[in-house]
Amino acid sequence: MQLFKRVDQLQSFLNAERVNNRSVGFIPTMGALHAGHLSLVKRSLSENQITVASIFVNPTQFNETSDLDRYPRTPGKDLQKLAKVGCNVAFLPEVEDMYPPGHNTELKIDLSGLDARMEGAQRPGHFDGVAQVVKRFLDIVQPENLYMGQKDYQQQLIVKQMIRVLDLPYRVVTVQTAREEDGLAMSSRNVLLDTEARQKAAILYQTLQEAKKRLIKGELPKDIETWAMKAMTQPGFRPEYFSIVDGYSLQPLPDQEELAELVVACTAVWAGEVRLIDNLPLRGNM
Ligand code: PAF
Repeated sequence: MQLFKRVDQLQSFLNAERVNNRSVGFIPTMGALHAGHLSLVKRSLSENQITVASIFVNPTQFNETSDLDRYPRTPGKDLQKLAKVGCNVAFLPEVEDMYPPGHNTELKIDLSGLDARMEGAQRPGHFDGVAQVVKRFLDIVQPENLYMGQKDYQQQLIVKQMIRVLDLPYRVVTVQTAREEDGLAMSSRNVLLDTEARQKAAILYQTLQEAKKRLIKGELPKDIETWAMKAMTQPGFRPEYFSIVDGYSLQPLPDQEELAELVVACTAVWAGEVRLIDNLPLRGNM
């Protein structure tokens, strides 16, 4: 596996590969890699000739400095994991190279309200930072295919919207959420959970699954949301939202919810000091 820390070095390498018509798949990550990230890498390896994975804890998408400081960083282990699955290129840029002084990387685009609710409402500015860094990476790597995880449902929709609005030539592939045996969605933040919170954390997936059953039985989305918030409120656990939305627009369901082709439940819960998110399509396929 090749390791690059500088933008110009990565670009020279990729330019040479492009001369040979090699297709490039790209997986942006913030490190602390787990099996979910590696499933994106494997998918890219199966669909491209060159797979590039970046590890960059992007400061512009954190709305709280304490969250940025606490974010797990395990670059040594990450590189071993990437090499083991056969990733071709690891890119670990510095902040100064991603956001060079005098270089305007800020991005103001119309996200069609996709950033207005859920993560966007709870973490102001978060998606501006995500769009900014993903756009910067795409400009650098110019992959044929970009791989995003379904676990960050709102994020992958926003990235798709950004690519549409800017008319960029990249295909976005959303890869299914990888889960632990008890159903907890794999996340870099899971390592921050204490033993008790980790044991209880399966409640998110259990609640999402029960919500699906209730919707199928005909219960109203509003009632399911109220039930779910209560179900996840336990000692040490504080749900922030449980929203059943149209899976394309992320808007609350209209009265005639049965008309929505794709219905997704998204949730965020504080497990002690750790914020977990998860989602599940309740009707339709992504
Ligand atoms: O999902 C993440 O890890 C990050 O938001 C991403 C897409 C790598 C951008 O920093």
